[in-house]
Amino acid sequence: MDSKSPIGVFDSGVGGLTVLDELIHRLPHENFIYIGDTKNSPYGEKTDQEIIDYVSNIVRYLEKCDVKQVVIACNTATVNSEHVADKKEPEVIGIVYPTAFKAINTTKTKNVLVLATPVTIRKGLYQTILKKLGINVYAKACPKFVPIIEANKMNTKESLDAVREVLEPFKGQNIDTVLMGCTHYGLLAKEIKEVMGDVNIVDSGNATYEVVHNSLQKNHLLNNTKEPGHVELYTTGDVKTFKKSMSWFNKRIDSIDFISV
Ligand code: DGL
Repeated sequence: MDSKSPIGVFDSGVGGLTVLDELIHRLPHENFIYIGDTKNSPYGEKTDQEIIDYVSNIVRYLEKCDVKQVVIACNTATVNSEHVADKKEPEVIGIVYPTAFKAINTTKTKNVLVLATPVTIRKGLYQTILKKLGINVYAKACPKFVPIIEANKMNTKESLDAVREVLEPFKGQNIDTVLMGCTHYGLLAKEIKEVMGDVNIVDSGNATYEVVHNSLQKNHLLNNTKEPGHVELYTTGDVKTFKKSMSWFNKRIDSIDFISV
């Protein structure tokens, strides 16, 4: 592996593309391999052991691709990734801590609402980090959101109704920050603002970029070429369906293919 090697990024589906979007924007000379594990999506309702196995298989696959770094662009996978957390070559980066700290630095009222998958809420890592730093945390699992987003049904009555159903009870609690504890949910930001009013939406893209950049810099792995990077997307499911689910993604893509991991 060297500085020209790609960065591996993965999620259960299209949600992690919200992180990739930011990484391509901020690191335009890097090469990326993105895997959407749509065959096993949604992760958010699987057992811990199932998710641990998905993470192991994908990390192993990315290692074979000689990636220089792995970014777990999925909270549900991150909270089930202790078994790969100490890896050094390639380093494996999770998104929960950077996203939690971004929310802590954003809130003024110290009331934060965490929205995430049932697994991420059950594991409680966001709640623990935020509470330790004096934040009053509201946490809610939103199992209806991922299927809506994978079906590319954002900006519809269905998406607004689903968001309204979840968020109505949290209005009037002096919440000024909504933490997207699932990388898919940033795609419902418009609906969330419509229901919650003027709140800060914290997602993983920006926060993760800083960790990725610092780690590449520390390890002398930043790609210093002047050429634009190469972006390869893979799905473990149906390519046609994947392309349809991600038609909102407007960054450069060089290929979209099927893989079995
Ligand atoms: N995008 C993922 C996350 O950040 C998981 C969604 C799912 O597959 O349930 O948690």
